[in-house]
Amino acid sequence: MTNTPKAEILISKGGFWFPEAISTQAHQVDQIFHFILWASIILFLILTVVVGYFLYKYKRTPENTYAKKHVTHNNVLEITWTVIPLVLVLFIFYWGYSGYLKMTIPPANASEIRVTGRKWMWQFDYPNGNKSIGELVVPVHTPIRLVMSSEDVLHSFFVPNFRVKRDLVPNRYTRIWFEAKRTGNFQIFCAEFCGDGHSDMMGVVRVVTASEYQKWLKESGAAASEGVPLDQLGEKLYTSKGCNACHSTDGSAKVGPSWKGIYGATHTLASGQTVKVDDNYIRESMVDPKAKVTAGFQPVMPPFAGLLNDREIAGLIEYIKKLK
Ligand code: CUA
Repeated sequence: MTNTPKAEILISKGGFWFPEAISTQAHQVDQIFHFILWASIILFLILTVVVGYFLYKYKRTPENTYAKKHVTHNNVLEITWTVIPLVLVLFIFYWGYSGYLKMTIPPANASEIRVTGRKWMWQFDYPNGNKSIGELVVPVHTPIRLVMSSEDVLHSFFVPNFRVKRDLVPNRYTRIWFEAKRTGNFQIFCAEFCGDGHSDMMGVVRVVTASEYQKWLKESGAAASEGVPLDQLGEKLYTSKGCNACHSTDGSAKVGPSWKGIYGATHTLASGQTVKVDDNYIRESMVDPKAKVTAGFQPVMPPFAGLLNDREIAGLIEYIKKLK
């Protein structure tokens, strides 16, 4: 058991069956679910009553001559129990398929955000060159098209409040879109088992107003970190860049070594060599994690080259130094 606190789950509560419907398409999913659920319950009850009645009515007794009649066929009955389910199934198919098309084909005016899944983080690339990790920031009342791919194994992007879920597949692009009806923070899960860190591969969709979104696009660039002391910047990046999915700060082991007390320690590598954990080693472990892997851990960390600038790397090193 680890004592690392789990990230708070940000699912907005709704009715009995579903969390609150936040996207414009969510009600379609809920409606068809409820239709199928209630149709199944009603048909099940009718069938059970009819079967029970027939069991009683046609039970074998000396007076009951029905069993001797050898009835083998009834055209009216056969047509009835073929046509009714057929109509029902075709109706559900039409409803489901037209809803599927609506959910799959984004409106022409949708703005595009690229999503990259890798073990174990979500990376988002915005049209203006911004990047964010673990947090997808989108404007409210605006159709957003996600073009998604994976760098390693199958992942699945799932936002329960949006009823949006689709796999991310290596070497190909999958698409999905949504339009949020209100502002707020909503949980992203990975819904495809992808290895040790799967259950920690979470993120947040932050739905903001259009003006807040423009402000965020400006402020979240590299300039935003200027003026923040390095160790505080590092502490912020620890969660915003997703380091927390695999590294604890309290000494408990996760997918990767804990950062607590790591600075200045001597690590044994998988090769048997030893290495002192200093600034250079930490830097190398961020940009090229497979270069020197600590014994007892898998070489699964994605390289952060290009995802962290020099000041951010320095910030993380200073933060790690403080974790004694
Ligand atoms: Cu990514 Cu499970």
